[in-house]
Amino acid sequence: MAEKVNPYKDSDASKKKQVTQMFDTISNEYDGLNRVISFGIDVKWRNKVVEMVAKTKPENILDIATGTGDLAISLTSTNAKEIIGLDISDGMLEVGRKKINSKNLDGIISMVIGDSEDLPFEDNTFDAITVAFGVRNFEHLEKGLAEILRVLKPNGIFVILETSVPTNPIYKAGYNVHTKLIMPTIGKLFSKDKVAYNYLSESASLFPYGEALNNILRKIGFINVIDLPQTMGVATIYSASKA
Ligand SMILES: C[S@@+](CC[C@H](N)C(=O)[O-])C[C@H]1O[C@@H](n2cnc3c(N)ncnc32)[C@H](O)[C@@H]1O
Repeated sequence: MAEKVNPYKDSDASKKKQVTQMFDTISNEYDGLNRVISFGIDVKWRNKVVEMVAKTKPENILDIATGTGDLAISLTSTNAKEIIGLDISDGMLEVGRKKINSKNLDGIISMVIGDSEDLPFEDNTFDAITVAFGVRNFEHLEKGLAEILRVLKPNGIFVILETSVPTNPIYKAGYNVHTKLIMPTIGKLFSKDKVAYNYLSESASLFPYGEALNNILRKIGFINVIDLPQTMGVATIYSASKA
């Protein structure tokens, strides 16, 4: 079971409400700060997700927790006819809509407000579903994953990109300095929300990864579950499918 970490320690609001408020607040700075904090490697990881999805030649794709839409935009290279980016934060979606519009991709990508735990789609709708850096923000992880399984078509592909913790002690020491010191400091200096980057780093270090997340996916009913650690294990790509 994933440990519950909320953005605002002294708030009684649900995790979902706090997460929505936090991403609404940081939406305009998200892309810039993200690139700095990840040294731009996040772009490479997202491209790998796109490659894996492209191999399955999907006609339609759902990108959950799409945020400002970077993965949804990259997924257009799969030649899918329809891509839906879904997110709970309208602030993040609005930034994404502007990017999509400036790239003339409105005909392919639609940005939809919604909750991963109650997806507004019929069963067996999508050939491929992706979530990048989203699952650790779900209030009820298993409920969100069960909804994803429900709307994925049989034989469809589900790909998660999420932070993880390096197992090698030397890499882990570097990772700890980065997440516990550098990330919160950058957040404090440059973010509109002084605690957002504490939450993002704390939730990253406590979220299940590798075999632990594989087992949760299998328990929900996904098959062909594999995990592919990236860049010394600081992020992991998970691939799964539906029987
Ligand atoms: C760290 S951002 C990742 C955005 C984007 N996928 C990326 O790779 O940059 C996490 C996103 O998850 C969204 N999110 C959190 N909980 C959600 C939920 N229950 N349903 C849909 N989106 C959610 C947040 O609003 C936020 O935009």
